[in-house]
Amino acid sequence: MTFKTAIASAAVLCIASFGAQAQNKAPVRIGLMLPYTGTYAALGNAIENGFKLYVQEQGGKLAGREIAYFKVDDESDPSKATDNVGKLIKRDNVDVLVGTVHSGVALGMAKAARESKTLLIIPNAGADAITGPMCAPNIVRSSFSNWQPAYAMGKVAAEKGLKRAITITWNYAAGAESVKGFAEAFEKGGGKVIKDLNLPFPGVEFQALLTEIAAQKPDVVYAFFAGGGAVKFVKDYAAAGLNKSIPLYGAGFLTDGTLEAQGDSAQGMLTTLHYADNLDTPRNNAFRKSYALAYKSNADVYAVQGYDAAQILAAGLNAAKGDLGKRDVITAAMHKVVVDSPRGKFTISAAGNPVQDIYLREVKGNYNENRGVAVKALADPARGCKL
Ligand code: PHB
Repeated sequence: MTFKTAIASAAVLCIASFGAQAQNKAPVRIGLMLPYTGTYAALGNAIENGFKLYVQEQGGKLAGREIAYFKVDDESDPSKATDNVGKLIKRDNVDVLVGTVHSGVALGMAKAARESKTLLIIPNAGADAITGPMCAPNIVRSSFSNWQPAYAMGKVAAEKGLKRAITITWNYAAGAESVKGFAEAFEKGGGKVIKDLNLPFPGVEFQALLTEIAAQKPDVVYAFFAGGGAVKFVKDYAAAGLNKSIPLYGAGFLTDGTLEAQGDSAQGMLTTLHYADNLDTPRNNAFRKSYALAYKSNADVYAVQGYDAAQILAAGLNAAKGDLGKRDVITAAMHKVVVDSPRGKFTISAAGNPVQDIYLREVKGNYNENRGVAVKALADPARGCKL
């Protein structure tokens, strides 16, 4: 190497490392793609609140880097998913995508994340395929697969000796997968699903379906609804008097973030989920206290999932000392993390889904109270995931 080329390559090195340092100091660009309108609006807001609460607790930075947020309202509309996620990836040039609630929209996000290799953390949507055939190292969920809470409820219902069930849900991926997970465990335990009822998302015209339930007189009804639709369904079920004779079970979304609006109609209901409001641990108590202080409302499962999405991202960024160029370090750490969640500690499977306890909960007043662990450390079967 001549003296001249040595000087030149030293200069190049210097510029390159200055560039990397400048990049390391720039804010991490986070794209929040969530529903801020429609039947899932409250869920989107709780997720954003939970995410930001964790970041605030770290002094507003992750791995020493400031955070810049970019937001898109996905309206829970799968037909707009590709355009909406494109805005965050191409226009806003985000480093990380966080979203969303609706499984159909999340499937579009996962496809875009796989193609562009953008990091994606899913803080709710349970679409089984995302941690099944579509699994990828850059995609991690902080929530659940639709199969998980549903399977647990099927097991509980069968163990109670119930024999004939009717399922009812919205006709889209989450609903279909939820009732399938319920049926899998319920029928394995000796029960039989005699009828699957459904209506288009986000419809709330339940009357004809409730009449059908009254006519069939099953031992139990299993429902998947969430947000505004869950409020209306639980109220209509009680108004029809069905709660007096046929127990209404559900994946816990049926009574989460909804109890103030459901009032008397939800009292005593049993559901299964990876969170219960009154888990009496220092972690959950501290979380609920700071959430209530910051947002003047009670934390729910969606707030927990948002909070934990930020914890998973922090684990990845910390391992890479904030250097987003170290993709493999980040994605490996996001899979290896043991998340110290308000729900209890959980791990992430190779497919990117939480391995977690599923609680049986009972509604008392405005809370989903823990009635014990229905299934311990439940891992999604991750059918079709090849890594
Ligand atoms: C979903 O679409 O996957 C979904 C939506 C709302 C929930 C749970 C799952 O509360």
